[in-house]
Amino acid sequence: MSEEGGTDADLFATGDIFRRRELLRVGHVPDRDRIVGRDDELQSVGQALGPATDGGPPSNVVIYGKTGTGKSLVARHVTQRASRIAAGNDVTFSHVYVDCSDADTETRVAREITTQLAATTEGAPDIPQQGIGANEYYRYLWDLLESRDTCIVLLDEIDILRDDDVLMQLSRAEETGKTDCYLGVISISNKIEFRDRLSERIDSSLQDEDIIFQPYDASQLRNILENRRDAFKEGVLADGVIPKVAALAAREHGDARKAINILQKAGELAERENDDRVTEAHVERGQQKAEVQRFQELVSGSTPHVKHLLRALATLTEERQADAFATGEIYEEYRSTAASGGSDPLGQDRVYRLLKEQSFLGVTESRHTGGGKSEGSYLEHQLMRETDVVLQALGDE
Ligand SMILES: Nc1ncnc2c1ncn2[C@@H]1O[C@H](COP(=O)(O)OP(=O)(O)OP(=O)(O)O)[C@@H](O)[C@H]1O
Ligand SMILES: [Mg+2]
Repeated sequence: MSEEGGTDADLFATGDIFRRRELLRVGHVPDRDRIVGRDDELQSVGQALGPATDGGPPSNVVIYGKTGTGKSLVARHVTQRASRIAAGNDVTFSHVYVDCSDADTETRVAREITTQLAATTEGAPDIPQQGIGANEYYRYLWDLLESRDTCIVLLDEIDILRDDDVLMQLSRAEETGKTDCYLGVISISNKIEFRDRLSERIDSSLQDEDIIFQPYDASQLRNILENRRDAFKEGVLADGVIPKVAALAAREHGDARKAINILQKAGELAERENDDRVTEAHVERGQQKAEVQRFQELVSGSTPHVKHLLRALATLTEERQADAFATGEIYEEYRSTAASGGSDPLGQDRVYRLLKEQSFLGVTESRHTGGGKSEGSYLEHQLMRETDVVLQALGDE
């Protein structure tokens, strides 16, 4: 394919490490034969969508499970397969995928669904991207659904959604006569606790079925990685690489995303350093890079104050050789971090609320401690990531 020699070819040289690097991208939806150990889960989602491939009503599904357990993958894979089968049955089947970490309000979700549907509808109106509210988007939506038999809406990271009105609208659309199109909602959450937070009214309409995804064990992780070995050129991966990546990713809980990220980063390091093999040493450094990147993604949308706060907590953890700190201590450190970062510090109450938010996201952990009964206990907060990962991620901005 590529031209030999010539300066242009050198300029774009991609090294001798990767053959199909797209296999390691997180959004990549692998073929059935690369999916490991999720037969029951695929089957359950398939059963929920089955009727829709034949022109009938799908069931709604909620998927729970820790990060990197294949929830998005299974949901997307089954939806794509269903869509192909429906096409063969002359059923007009649409599907849209909304990541609620990008679209976290009712209006944004409604806009995203409508915009995606319009993009695949001939003669659809231009959907305004601003200046209109959720209700207007719904009006477009009901119109767009008119030409369809069924539509599956995948709401990923649904726990980030700030209100559940959009869920109400979607789950009651048929019942309230808004549309004749069968709407199916697959919601995905990586917070198992979210199950208890789903309000009663939503619960009964969205949760025809719930599926819980368990973490992978090291041997499943090894198989997942083996199935992507052809992302690399023949013979490039040293023997211990895949077992080592799998072991690292299995450490907290079996997280396939982490495994694939580490493998990708290790390969990139080898490539950048013009090595012709990926070794365990690359894996170790790749892991650090993968964690920094993950943390950067997590905080990228946060306000500068959240970043000051996390920097303050990481600094305290490093300097005081302790793990957990009282709110007041953290607040003092935050004030000076914010000030040296050129922002006006927020009040202690606001900072306390930010700490609570971070603990919900799993970045920190808060617990009551200290004091006898008479003194009462106080709240301590601990950073749940390595300090150098946090500081590096925040520093590189
Ligand atoms: N059973 C599997 N077989 C092959 N690849 C998998 C499997 N499970 C997950 N993966 C891969 O691991 C990565 C993470 O999976 P996925 O995005 O589905 O996780 P998730 O459960 O949605 O995590 P999160 O809650 O963080 O969004 C993806 O690249 C995916 O392709
Ligand atoms: Mg996901």
